Amino acid sequence: MAPPAPLLLLLPLLAITAGAALSNPAATTTEAPPPVPTPWPEQFHAVMFTNLTESGGRLQLIDLYYDWPRGRNLNLIRSQLSGDPKYDVEWTNGTSYIFDSASCRTIKFAVGILPPDWLRGAVYLGRETTDGFDCHVWTKVDFIWYYEDVVTHRPVRWNFYTGMQQHVMSFNVGGVLEDSQWQAPAHCFNDHAAMATGADAVDTMSSLLWFARAPADAAAAV
Ligand SMILES: *[C@@H]1O[C@H](CO)[C@@H](O)[C@H](O)[C@H]1NC(C)=O
Ligand SMILES: *[C@@H]1O[C@H](CO)[C@@H](O)[C@H](O)[C@H]1NC(C)=O
Repeated sequence: MAPPAPLLLLLPLLAITAGAALSNPAATTTEAPPPVPTPWPEQFHAVMFTNLTESGGRLQLIDLYYDWPRGRNLNLIRSQLSGDPKYDVEWTNGTSYIFDSASCRTIKFAVGILPPDWLRGAVYLGRETTDGFDCHVWTKVDFIWYYEDVVTHRPVRWNFYTGMQQHVMSFNVGGVLEDSQWQAPAHCFNDHAAMATGADAVDTMSSLLWFARAPADAAAAV
């Protein structure tokens, strides 16, 4: 008995596809995909040397505490030759408190803190040595340029479109700040405390997450 008709039809088809694969080696050897940024650890403490001179500011030393499981992010900002550090406590519900010993501003963002994989989809620009480290470089929607150490996968530096440059001096995975340090002081909750929206807050921007949230916030406000 002859094989059923569908099988007869299939045999030449198989021969054709096998031939095509052989005559076109490019179809079987695909190019390696570009490197992707390493997601942030869920909790870390980084110390960042921050250079704002290109955008009319000064130098700062910033302690960044990123705490994704608890939905919060804190920047302790020490400006050069200033004795009064500024705190920027950002909560994932969109509320941020910016305060020093005398003043406080409460700012509402339309979006919360960045997820660990916030760099997903960034465009790979290649390798570059920066601050003496061999790095992969990505950019995201032209507002950040992000440098990651090729060997250790730690962030080394990031630059913003405004001219702000942050150099990562230490990166301590799992580094957390005790709960009491996150509490905004009483003067954030009195009648004189200022309230602003993210779009009004451009002048106080000094942290990574401010910049990264700002475009989304601005888009949401349109
Ligand atoms: C800060 O950035 C400016 C502009 O890129 C640069 O000229 C200057 O050397 C930097 N300063 C420090 C201390 O890194
Ligand atoms: C967001 O969370 C913080 C910290 O718990 C709180 O102080 C603030 O009132 C909250 N904001 C809103 C809009 O619920």
